[in-house]
Amino acid sequence: MKGVVLAGGLGTRLHPLTKVTNKHLLPVYNRPMIYYPIQTLVNAGIHEILIVTGGNNAGDFLRLLGNGKEFGLQHLGYTYQEGEGGIADALRLAEHFAEGEAVCVMLGDNIIEGNVLRAAQAFRKQQVGAKILLKEVKDPQRFGVPVLEGERVVKIEEKPANPRSTYAVTGIYFYDSRVFEIIKTLKPSGRGELEITDVNNAYIQAGQLTWDVLDGWWTDAGTIESLLLANQLVAQSGANKLDVGAASVRQGA
Ligand code: DAU
Repeated sequence: MKGVVLAGGLGTRLHPLTKVTNKHLLPVYNRPMIYYPIQTLVNAGIHEILIVTGGNNAGDFLRLLGNGKEFGLQHLGYTYQEGEGGIADALRLAEHFAEGEAVCVMLGDNIIEGNVLRAAQAFRKQQVGAKILLKEVKDPQRFGVPVLEGERVVKIEEKPANPRSTYAVTGIYFYDSRVFEIIKTLKPSGRGELEITDVNNAYIQAGQLTWDVLDGWWTDAGTIESLLLANQLVAQSGANKLDVGAASVRQGA
């Protein structure tokens, strides 16, 4: 399974912080935001990773992350999203990189306390379809929200005014290679974006979507409030002691 971190978009909800830099380069406690999703993929045993970025600061990612050595990687891939066509539009750019393999996709502004190793192992066994990770939240209207019938997710609603459950769909997704065919069938939503929620709904309709509840805390960092929360959560927890750096020290030894 390969990994994709989506770090495009304009980050307008963080203006003026994102006027001269990309959201995913902003600090979250002691590291740039993008370090956390990359480390989450590495911790799940995923070592082939593509970063999808965009906007005016794409070169800064290369300067910051280089070949991924700091994460114990031998190589890191980069691609560039023109415009801000949505999460599924950014993922579309990973088709060539995936080469027919399954992918674990992580939104570049999602930060978790624990790891997704168990979910990755379960998805390797599942082989076909998709898997999403849910988390109970106080403000589901900010997210994709699953409609549950018993144990089944029958539909996902994107930012519903009246959420039908207290769960959010987190920005960590597992897909088989069919995801790229599904993306080609999507139409832009009301906000002019190709929505990842439409991708997930296509898998639900095919009866091929499984879900798990994520252990430990989870937050995005895409608004001023959630960026502050992310800083606090990371500062208070072991997430600030990620093994970044240690890997390269070991490699060099
Ligand atoms: O954080 C989880 C939520 O993320 C999910 O519950 C929602 O279903 C999903 O739509 C998404 O909602 P947001 O409105 O928070 O997504 P946002 O536009 O902030 O984009 C999240 C990340 O996706 C962003 O950090 C970078 C990447 N992205 C986004 C867009 C719009 C891209 O790479 N390119 C894009 O064009």
